Amino acid sequence: MEQDKIMLPSLREKEGTENLPQINGDLMEELKLLMQQSQPFQEMLMMYKCAIREVRTKAEVLNDEMSVRYHRNPINSILSRVKKPESIAQKLVRKNLPFTVEAIMANLSDVAGVRIICEFVDDIYTIAAMLAMQDDLKLVKIKDYIKYPKPNGYRSYHMIVEIPVFFSKGKTPMRVEIQIRTIAMDFWASLDHELKYKKNIAPEEEEMIAGELLSCADRIAETDMIMQQIRMKLDAVEESKEEQAYSNSSSRYTV
Ligand code: GTP
Ligand code: MG
Repeated sequence: MEQDKIMLPSLREKEGTENLPQINGDLMEELKLLMQQSQPFQEMLMMYKCAIREVRTKAEVLNDEMSVRYHRNPINSILSRVKKPESIAQKLVRKNLPFTVEAIMANLSDVAGVRIICEFVDDIYTIAAMLAMQDDLKLVKIKDYIKYPKPNGYRSYHMIVEIPVFFSKGKTPMRVEIQIRTIAMDFWASLDHELKYKKNIAPEEEEMIAGELLSCADRIAETDMIMQQIRMKLDAVEESKEEQAYSNSSSRYTV
């Protein structure tokens, strides 16, 4: 990968200093345009899109296999996105990094994001373990916000992985952030996300809503746990029916 720079003139002289400027609207527009016109940046985005495809395929394969084997889909849906140029720029400024493809690829782990929405909590751990087991996938970091929820109630299982993608020039390891969560956790996170981005909200109201969200998160976690237990009970019923079918069967296997 060429290490071409996507330099923004007004930021260049500040590069590497402690106090990079806050990006205002005009500067952001300028930066966005610059990134959009930059060939190395476009190539980088294409590479992240390809890495996303690889991870999605891995998840889809596991889902297909399990649906044939266990007659149910552990994955409800898969979403993915490449981080927006303005969010990449904001993160570079926040981390005091230069505006280069090299800096992005070496330091940002969430340019490519895949969100896997599962039905049950156990499915999250099953899918995570099955992905982690694959020998072409390098596990960079795990954050288990299900076992250790964030103080605001956020729950999800996060993995940063490195996956090799084969391009014409050869193999490039690409980082992808995988978030695995239940349908209920995802529902909660989307509302929480909305609260984060509401600018004109009074502090008292924000605090009240945050409190309500926290209590919802706890109730959701409890419901997810009960749903999991019901699932297990139903699975046990299925199994004993099969056992019954064997014992009722008049024909016997002869080995
Ligand atoms: P960034 O937040 O991406 O700078 O990195 P981090 O190292 O803090 O990563 P973390 O694993 O905590 O979060 C990564 C992503 O998870 C975020 O970009 C969100 O998409 C999601 N996330 C983390 N915390 C929350 C939360 O409290 N609410 C919601 N809705 N999403 C969250
Ligand atoms: Mg992020």
